[in-house]
This record gives sequence, structure tokens and C-alpha cells, in this order.
Amino acid sequence: MSLLEIVTFPHPALKTKADEVKSVNPDLERLARDLAETMYHAPGIGLAANQVGVLQQVAVVDVSGPEEAKNLVVLVNPRIVEAEEREALEEGCLSVPGYRAEVERAARITVRAKNLKGADIEIHAEGLFARALQHEIDHLQGKLFLDRIGRLKRSQIIREIKKKKMS
Ligand code: NI
Repeated sequence: MSLLEIVTFPHPALKTKADEVKSVNPDLERLARDLAETMYHAPGIGLAANQVGVLQQVAVVDVSGPEEAKNLVVLVNPRIVEAEEREALEEGCLSVPGYRAEVERAARITVRAKNLKGADIEIHAEGLFARALQHEIDHLQGKLFLDRIGRLKRSQIIREIKKKKMS
């Protein structure tokens, strides 16, 4: 296993839709394990392949956090098939370090995906788990939480990031 470098906004991989995975093979398994290790190390509760510059629809989520690391979920080609109720919660992103904002998302979702064995899985999620899944699925579609917040807050954050990168 190895740690991967997490790219940050405005890296182009973060704005690009990842390709669907055609077959689950040892390379994909290695990528998933490296993503998990990188996520725990960061530390974070979710990481999508786009965030390490790989445009394949693979993401990992573990809302138990890096200390417990007991609920790792690997998602291949995930899709949200049901979404209920909306709620606004503050969230952040390893690719937008240092910034948090309130994001409105579904409170309960059903996700279909493949696992690392290539089997179809269905996940029912709510609370933090539902939120993390939606955030990572967004990444695979080339979307950041910044794309889901008010224009004013968004441009304020982007302005600050640009200023920091120049200094
Ligand atoms: Ni993120």
C-alpha cells in the first residue's frame, strides 16, 4: 500500500467526470486500498479517485473515522437511486483544505454500486454517512461542495484560495 498525493482546488481532475469502471481487477483493488490508506492518513472520512488525479469511478468512505477505521465502504460506479428530505450541514473537503460551508443535501439516500468483488451492492444511508456518500459521488461527477453553496460564499472562498496560492 502507498500514500497518494491529494490534489487541491483548482486542479482540473476535480472538475472532470471520472470514467465508469469496466472491470474490477487487481489494479483497481490496489487503487481502492491506496485511497483508503490516504483517506485515513489525511485524516478524512471519504476520498474519491479524482482527488488523487485518477479519473475512475472509485471512492472510499468510512464515517467511523481513522481512529476506529471499522466501517470502510468501497464504491465502484456508485449511483444515487433514491433521495429523501433535504438538510443543510457544514462540510469540508480534503481538496479544499481549510474551508467549510453549509451544504444542502438529501437526508436519506439509497446508493447502488459495485464492490471490489464486482458484485452489485445497495446501501441505505442517513446522517453523516448519507452526506459523505453524496459528497464522494459528487467528486466522481466532477463536482465539489463549492458547486453547491451560495455564489457569494463560493466566490469568497475561491478568492481566498487564489490569494494564498500566489503568496
Ligand atoms: Ni471532498
